[in-house]
Amino acid sequence: MTAKPTLFVTRKLPSPVEIYLKEHFETTLNADDTPLSQEALQFALQNYDALLPTVSDTLSADLLQANISVKILANFGVGVNHIDVEAAKAAGVIVTNTPDVLTDATADIALLLMLSVTRRAFEVERIVRNNEWNGFSPVGFLGVGLQGKTLGVLGFGRIGRAVAERAKAFGMNVIYYSRSPKEYPGAKSSMAEVVRASDFISLHMPGGDENAGVFSAELIAEMKPTAFLINTARGDVVDEKALILALENKRIAGAGLDVFADEPNVPEQLRILDNVTLFPHIGSATFETRTAMGLMAADSLKAFFSGEDVPNRVT
Ligand code: DGY
Repeated sequence: MTAKPTLFVTRKLPSPVEIYLKEHFETTLNADDTPLSQEALQFALQNYDALLPTVSDTLSADLLQANISVKILANFGVGVNHIDVEAAKAAGVIVTNTPDVLTDATADIALLLMLSVTRRAFEVERIVRNNEWNGFSPVGFLGVGLQGKTLGVLGFGRIGRAVAERAKAFGMNVIYYSRSPKEYPGAKSSMAEVVRASDFISLHMPGGDENAGVFSAELIAEMKPTAFLINTARGDVVDEKALILALENKRIAGAGLDVFADEPNVPEQLRILDNVTLFPHIGSATFETRTAMGLMAADSLKAFFSGEDVPNRVT
């Protein structure tokens, strides 16, 4: 019997995924889910056949050297901005990701952020929990409705489109900007055009160098004073400092954020604002979705070590 390939899994995964991986690979798991240091990642890259990393693992060119033993990085997640993909390519390492399976869960979170920030969900929930509610008032806890408002989607891939469909079900008008032409009504020719016309802007472009700071201070300045920014993409696509300033000065109405520039550090200036809803990067965080993501990464690993075409290759 030939030895199973060795696999290092950087974070704890849903148990059906861990069971499946152990069946097919000589697997090292991270039972207590401690985020890995750069040294631990380096050790794994130099001593295993495969690595199953995720967004909390920074895999820079310094680590992805030609002498590493790992041949495939099967990323748990669709975004690969934490991996220096060019360095991986240069080192002869295949990178795969997990698209599609997290589209619905992430789109749901974009809508949850929109509803939470406009209906003040967490502020009012705290009032009830603290037993501070004085009873119904016709002018109590007024929020902002979604019906009839315009949602501008920036980045119109699978998740952007799923958010658009959900927004339509809430009676919203949808416009969007996409770099590549799409067969979907509402396309505009620039981000600024979308931003100026929108009551809500939802970001869905990939993170990483190509989009770093693309939702810039200039675009934030183009937002309506009544508009809300929703970000379930990556923190680095927004000029976070400019966003904080706009929120502090009430230059815009609010923001719903699931992702941040320097996770897990969320700036205190954001945490103390009452016109924001802040989530800890939970776009794909359902048991079903995280299990499907893990099994998808496992399929890429299995295909690679069986010499088959590797699905969901990024490189
Ligand atoms: C993704 O899939 O990119 C999610 O943000 C989790 O990393």
